[in-house]
Amino acid sequence: MNKQDKFNRIHHLKKEKNAIILAHFYQDDDIQDVADFIGDSLALSQKAQQVTEDVILFAGVNFMAETAKILNPTKTVIVPDLAAGCSLADSAEPSAFAQWKSNYPDSVVVSYINTTAEIKALSDVICTSSNAVKIVNSIPKNIQVLFAPDRFLGSYVKQQTERDNMILWDGSCQVHETFSEEKVIELIEKHPDAIVLAHPECPPNILKYANVIGSTTKIIQEAVNSLHNKFIILTEPGVIHEMKKQNPNKTYLEVPNIDGCSCNHCPYMRLNTLDKIINALETLSPVVVLDEELRLKALQPILKMLEISK
Ligand code: 13P
Ligand code: SF4
Repeated sequence: MNKQDKFNRIHHLKKEKNAIILAHFYQDDDIQDVADFIGDSLALSQKAQQVTEDVILFAGVNFMAETAKILNPTKTVIVPDLAAGCSLADSAEPSAFAQWKSNYPDSVVVSYINTTAEIKALSDVICTSSNAVKIVNSIPKNIQVLFAPDRFLGSYVKQQTERDNMILWDGSCQVHETFSEEKVIELIEKHPDAIVLAHPECPPNILKYANVIGSTTKIIQEAVNSLHNKFIILTEPGVIHEMKKQNPNKTYLEVPNIDGCSCNHCPYMRLNTLDKIINALETLSPVVVLDEELRLKALQPILKMLEISK
C-alpha cells in the first residue's frame, strides 16, 4: 500500500469502527496528518475526556493512552504499539515511590503526567509541562511538595515558584537530557539571530540558553506567533511539523545529532507507524485495560489538575 492508500484505509476504518485518532506533537508527520486531534499532554487529556466516539486510537505513548482510559473508561482505548513507554514514567517504580512518599507524611505529592497509573494513584495532584508552575503555586507555600519523576522539570518549577520546600524524585527523560551543550552553543554561534525555545525537561545547562521555556504547545505557539523568523528547537523535533503547517516561511532548526545517533527523536513515540495504526483499527487491539479500583484512585489527582487548569 502506498501512503495515500494507507490514509484512505485509516479514514475508512475510523468511520467503520466509530473511532477518533488523538496524536501527540512528537508523532511522525504522517501520523499527525491522519489524526483528528493533535496536542500536548494537557490538551490531549482534556480532549480524551470529551470524546463521544466508541474508540480512541491514541498515537503517543502508553501513559497518555492510560490517562485517556482513566478519564473516559467506557471507551475502547487502543494504541498502535504497546511497547511505546517513556523513560520518565519508567523511572518511578511504584513500591520505591510509595517508600519515598512514606518518608514525608505531611507533604503534597505532585506527579508529572508522564507516570504510570500506579504512580498517579499515589499522588495528590497531576501536572503537565504546561501547568506545572500553576499547580505547584496552588499549594500553600508552607506545605512541603514532593515532585516526581522529572528532576529537571522539578528544579525548573522549584525556581519559578521560589519554593525551598520541594523535594524531587531523581528521574529524567532520555531525549531531553541527551542534548549536547556543545552542539547548542555551535548552533547559537552560527545563528545569532535565532530565538532558542526549550522544553522544561531539558537539564539546567541547556535551559540556560533558552529565550522561552515551555510545553510543546507553548514552543509551537511562540515559534509561529513571534515577530522573529528563526528558531532553535530544544525538544523532540516532531513539533516542527505543526510549526511548518502554521507558518511555513520561518526557519526551524533542530539540534544536530551526536555521532550518528538521532538522540533527539523519542524512540518510544517513534515506534508508532501508519501500518500499526491500520492494524490496531482493524483488530481493535492492543487495548488499554485498567483495574477499576486503580483507575478510580488515579482519576482523582487528574481531575484535580483539570479543575485547577480551567
Ligand atoms: P508536553 O506536555 O509538552 O506535551 O510534553 C510531553 C512530553 O512527553 C515531553 O517529553
Ligand atoms: Fe517520555 Fe521523553 Fe519520550 Fe517525552 S520525549 S515521551 S518524556 S521519553
